[in-house]
Amino acid sequence: MRTRQIMLPVVLLLAACTGEKGEPGVSGKDGLPGKDGLPGTDGKDGLPGTDGKDGLPGTDGKDGLPGKDGEKGDPGTSKTTVVVHLRDFSSGADIAGASVVAEPGGASATTNASGRATFQDLPTGLYRFTAKAPSLVLAGNTMTASETVAVTSDWTSAVAGATLDFELRIRRYDVDRLNLTTLHTKDHATFQVANCQACHGARKSELSRDPAKPPFHSLGATTGGHASVNCVFCHGTVDLAGQFGNRSGATFRKQVDIAKACLLCHTKYPTSFCVGAQCQ
Ligand code: HEC
Ligand code: HEC
Ligand code: HEC
Repeated sequence: MRTRQIMLPVVLLLAACTGEKGEPGVSGKDGLPGKDGLPGTDGKDGLPGTDGKDGLPGTDGKDGLPGKDGEKGDPGTSKTTVVVHLRDFSSGADIAGASVVAEPGGASATTNASGRATFQDLPTGLYRFTAKAPSLVLAGNTMTASETVAVTSDWTSAVAGATLDFELRIRRYDVDRLNLTTLHTKDHATFQVANCQACHGARKSELSRDPAKPPFHSLGATTGGHASVNCVFCHGTVDLAGQFGNRSGATFRKQVDIAKACLLCHTKYPTSFCVGAQCQ
């Protein structure tokens, strides 16, 4: 405080002596930047974000290239084979010994024991086939052959290189005019093996799709098998209960007497279906 009071009169005195007031000095330079602060402490972790949306589906792939052309087929042969399988309209039995005629041309063939009529070397083309067989009537207690009945197939195309094999059903009797219940019931005089065979066939030559596996009735055809005992030995009675063709199968199965019908030959049933020497 004391110093200022002294200095002031000195400066004023100098100015009064030296002349005009000087220009102000240029401003000083900016100071140097300060030092960086120390790092802060870490913040808390944020909440997880919401899931992103599913991507859009990719575009479809391009179509594949076309395959190579197949090989040239064999030249067609002009002849072919036709097999007509003639069956009973109602029972489905194979019908043996019936004549079948092809139209046009008039070629004819007779059905074999499996109900097949075979036409070999038939020129390819459109055909229809007419089969003829005796009808069946009940005369007394016996199913008896009567007037001939016929059935004609649709026009069918017989092409080269493939056997045409088709089924034709012929109506030999009218089930509505026969008493099928009595015919299948053991207490009636009409319950006879000859009658069974007239309508159902002897069954021993039946075929299945795999010729190596015969259907039940033709099993063991050459080895004393199922056709070597008669129908009523196994079918003691058939008793077609209820509506015809409806529950008959189930009823029939109950009536095959296994002890009587099967054990005669298959002595080790149910452990084995062996027969005779096979069982030793
Ligand atoms: C060795 C015993 C046996 C003899 C013999 C036998 N059957 Fe059968 N039959 C059976 C058995 C078992 C079945 C059941 C088979 C099935 O359901 O697959 C059957 C099924 C049937 C059926 C119904 C299913 C079908 O395959 O059509 C008919 C119809 C039939 N037999 C008729 C006959 C006639 C007709 C005879 C005589 C020519 C005969 N059976 C002889 C045992 C026999
Ligand atoms: C007039 C012709 C005729 C006579 C005779 C006849 N049947 Fe039938 N039988 C039929 C017809 C048709 C059926 C019905 C077939 C069907 O509905 O699938 C049938 C059905 C059967 C069935 C049941 C088939 C099944 O699918 O369950 C057996 C088993 C059978 N007959 C055995 C015999 C036996 C055994 C005899 C001799 C005692 C005999 N039949 C006599 C025409 C006959
Ligand atoms: C008259 C004798 C006889 C009677 C009865 C008999 N079978 Fe057979 N069965 C045979 C003969 C024979 C074969 C054929 C065996 C062979 O060729 O190897 C056979 C084959 C079979 C087979 C085929 C076995 C196999 O291994 O391929 C079966 C399943 C069968 N019989 C079931 C029956 C049933 C079920 C009955 C009763 C409804 C019956 N059999 C009644 C003689 C009979």
